Amino acid sequence: MSLVVDGISKRFVTKNKDTFTLDNINLSFKQGEFICLLGPSGCGKSTLLNIIAGLEKPTSGKILLNDKEVKEVGPDKAFMFQEAALFPWLKVIDNVEFGMKMAGISKEERREKALKYLKMVHLTKFQNSFVHELSGGMRQRVSLARALTLDSELLLMDEPFSALDSQTKSILQLELQKIWWETKKTVVFVTHNVEEAVLLGDRVIVMSANPGRVKREFKIQLARPREAQSVDLAYVSAQVMKDLKEEVEKVAKAEYDSDWSIEKNNVLYNSTNNMGDGL
Ligand SMILES: Nc1ncnc2c1ncn2[C@@H]1O[C@H](COP(=O)(O)OP(=O)(O)OP(=O)(O)O)[C@@H](O)[C@H]1O
Ligand SMILES: [Mg+2]
Repeated sequence: MSLVVDGISKRFVTKNKDTFTLDNINLSFKQGEFICLLGPSGCGKSTLLNIIAGLEKPTSGKILLNDKEVKEVGPDKAFMFQEAALFPWLKVIDNVEFGMKMAGISKEERREKALKYLKMVHLTKFQNSFVHELSGGMRQRVSLARALTLDSELLLMDEPFSALDSQTKSILQLELQKIWWETKKTVVFVTHNVEEAVLLGDRVIVMSANPGRVKREFKIQLARPREAQSVDLAYVSAQVMKDLKEEVEKVAKAEYDSDWSIEKNNVLYNSTNNMGDGL
């Protein structure tokens, strides 16, 4: 598997503004790598991920997946959103089977695969439940199982855990590390949380805002599985945070009243637990 982001720019033209959200992004991803895209709100992380997925078209540049230009969505690029996007009228197992059904996979094979991946996310006993009977964390696990059934080499995730409480988030971060290890997928994971990026990523790509560019890349060489509360992780997170702080301030200055300053509102940096959560 090879994935190349080749000179991607995206310009949005709306009534009030005409802006380059992404400006000449160049990246390449290796087979089995876990990449985190990190940046302040509005820098274009979701836009870039959507372009990689084929959900959105770039203004210029191209995405090459296994040397072929990505022009549309497809089963070779599994996607997971912030909200689980499940069908409330379908049982868990039918939700997991849905993508395969659309792809025309036989009933038997669908069932076998759905059960395999429901087991991987430890939800076998809820296979006949409906979505409203599940917690937020369980819904995201169903959504992950559904994404895994595509057997794609590439898994794209847009802040999949950001709406969850911190305990559930930690459990899912650990599960994801294990599943990634077992399935050897290439994962592109969008987050605005520094600790999460350092916990999960082989590489963390820090983006700048207005326009969205690659500011810096960090190679994270901490041993796995990584633990959220480890001293090493906090140390590396602090290094990455230094780089990001400038970008967060830039965005905040554009959005807040002129008497606002990051020092006066020191909510971001006073504990390792909430590091980055306010970005
Ligand atoms: N369809 C659209 N039309 C106009 N502007 C858009 C559109 N989609 C995104 N934008 C703008 O592009 C910029 C980047 O948006 P994007 O959602 O990619 O950012 P993000 O980094 O994912 O932010 P967040 O962390 O808040 O999710 C924003 O300023 C947004 O207003
Ligand atoms: Mg986003």
